[in-house]
Amino acid sequence: MEFLQDANRLIKKFEAAIANPVPVKGGTNLFAGVDLGTAYIVLAVVDQDGEPVAGAMRYAEVVKDGLLVDYVGALDIVRELKREIEAKLGTELSTAGTAYPPGTAEADRRSIRYVAEGAGFKVATVVDEPTVAGRVLGIRNGAVVDIGGGTTGIAVIQDGEVIYVADEPTGGTHFTLVIAGAYHISYADAEQLKTDPQKQQSLFPVVKPVMEKVASIIRRHIEQFQVDNLYLTGGASCFSGIEKVVEAYVGIPTWKPDNPFLVTPVGIALSAQRNWEV
Ligand SMILES: Nc1ncnc2c1ncn2[C@@H]1O[C@H](COP(=O)(O)OP(=O)(O)OP(=O)(O)O)[C@@H](O)[C@H]1O
Ligand SMILES: [Mg+2]
Repeated sequence: MEFLQDANRLIKKFEAAIANPVPVKGGTNLFAGVDLGTAYIVLAVVDQDGEPVAGAMRYAEVVKDGLLVDYVGALDIVRELKREIEAKLGTELSTAGTAYPPGTAEADRRSIRYVAEGAGFKVATVVDEPTVAGRVLGIRNGAVVDIGGGTTGIAVIQDGEVIYVADEPTGGTHFTLVIAGAYHISYADAEQLKTDPQKQQSLFPVVKPVMEKVASIIRRHIEQFQVDNLYLTGGASCFSGIEKVVEAYVGIPTWKPDNPFLVTPVGIALSAQRNWEV
């Protein structure tokens, strides 16, 4: 998996910066990435060299299937995350990038931008999530699969360009629902169980059918293309062994970076720093 080395280094550094923000010198330009998801809102910050310096996240139910359903709620959380990071870094954040899932309509893209602007950011870029993920992973050809909270997004990339996108319901939420049902426990308890790496092996048989459902969505969308490799991103891809299930079902080599949950957020910050136009 040598080709994921750069991405893994970046993601590791971002992971560390979330726990311990990297002190920045006065006058350093910082770039934020605002990721509004169905399950999490994540704020990532990189410096002028594109190195991660801080990050913060909040569980939030302000987006449903890629659509912003609670503008005020989203605004409050982004403001709060911005203040939290500013306090830790001892400096103000001003420029941000933001992103939208595949297939988001123009009006909905605008409302995502308004959240970042309302929270006090100057918005430098509004990019599409799979393109960003593909660039972080350094992919020129293949399919990026973002298994998030509510949906699975698929982007087929050819010669560095996204040539096809799709986004369908089924994501981490469904994993949690299946666990809650099987063990007769609450959603919150099931979520906690699911995200405990120690428990994932015993939960595997319960969630495998949901993984196969995700795999069937992937297969259906990519069969019309020549796809040689699949790359998993998104929080639900963190579940141990999911890449093996997808690979077996779809029949295409499947890879995932060390922490698939953090790929898109750090990529959105990079898109602002590098002025990615997509
Ligand atoms: N370690 C983990 N193991 C398994 N699942 C995890 C882990 N960490 C996070 N998740 C799941 O990932 C999902 C959230 O992922 P992510 O933040 O990528 O989604 P989102 O961007 O909020 O949603 P969407 O992309 O659908 O709008 C949640 O369902 C969460 O339970
Ligand atoms: Mg997402």
